[in-house]
Amino acid sequence: MEKINFIEYNESLNDDYAKLQLERFVDRIDSQNLNKLMTDLMLKYSELSKSFEEKNQLLLENRVILERYNTQLEELVNEKVNEISESQMSTIFALVKLAESRDDETGAHVERTAELCKLMALYLKEDPKYSNIINNEYIDNIYKASPLHDIGKVGIPDNILLKKGRLTKDEFQVMKSHVEIGYETLKEVHSKYEVNSFLKMGMDITRNHHEKWDGTGYPRGIKGEDIPLSGRIMAIVDVYDALRSKRVYKEAYSHAKSMKLIKQNRGKHFDPKLVDVFIQHHTEFRKRHDFFK
Ligand SMILES: [Fe+2]
Ligand SMILES: [Fe+2]
Repeated sequence: MEKINFIEYNESLNDDYAKLQLERFVDRIDSQNLNKLMTDLMLKYSELSKSFEEKNQLLLENRVILERYNTQLEELVNEKVNEISESQMSTIFALVKLAESRDDETGAHVERTAELCKLMALYLKEDPKYSNIINNEYIDNIYKASPLHDIGKVGIPDNILLKKGRLTKDEFQVMKSHVEIGYETLKEVHSKYEVNSFLKMGMDITRNHHEKWDGTGYPRGIKGEDIPLSGRIMAIVDVYDALRSKRVYKEAYSHAKSMKLIKQNRGKHFDPKLVDVFIQHHTEFRKRHDFFK
């Protein structure tokens, strides 16, 4: 420590001079101390930052490992979920086919309608009005859930379901009940799996595929856009396929004749927008339909 010799009192110097010398000395002390302090701080800082860097590197490495594990786990879970849903879908499809086999003379009604529902949804997706409703999940769901639409027919007796010729008024009432039977069955299952969007779509399609745009359909007689979109899609596709197929009460109609009937029902039985899409892309609809003939 520097010796404070200049403050030894010298009478020849006045107080102001002593004060000035003292201030300069204190300044020098401060700047020396400050320099040392700064150097110490710099050293400490570099030590700390080095250790932080090392820790960060370690953290980063751990994070990469963790992310890799997560991705692997996610892939494994997805694989398992897909396996389960594929096997569940096959079971559902087998049951639907079994139910359908009672009255479907061609045997491929569910495949064709599923294909055409998907095609219609894909075309509608291009329209801004539907692009926010129809996403990939919607398309996947409509493809997988549309085969459920007539599942309630298992509850209709053979003498009505397979009757050749016109149904009486009472018989038709029984026939109509396939909608509620199917819907209630799916609703019961859905109550146990409420987040399942596939089942929800199945319920909408089953309940609404006989509703008509002008409100003259069944079971509720709802009209226009009150009918869920999936139900409106199923309605037009189901009728087109029925027209093109041989039934106990009719021969199979040609594509042209079926299209004519579809056009005549624009805004009556069917959503006008859906009829327009059907007309615009009718060759593609025919092609996909005929593929399963
Ligand atoms: Fe039906
Ligand atoms: Fe059908």
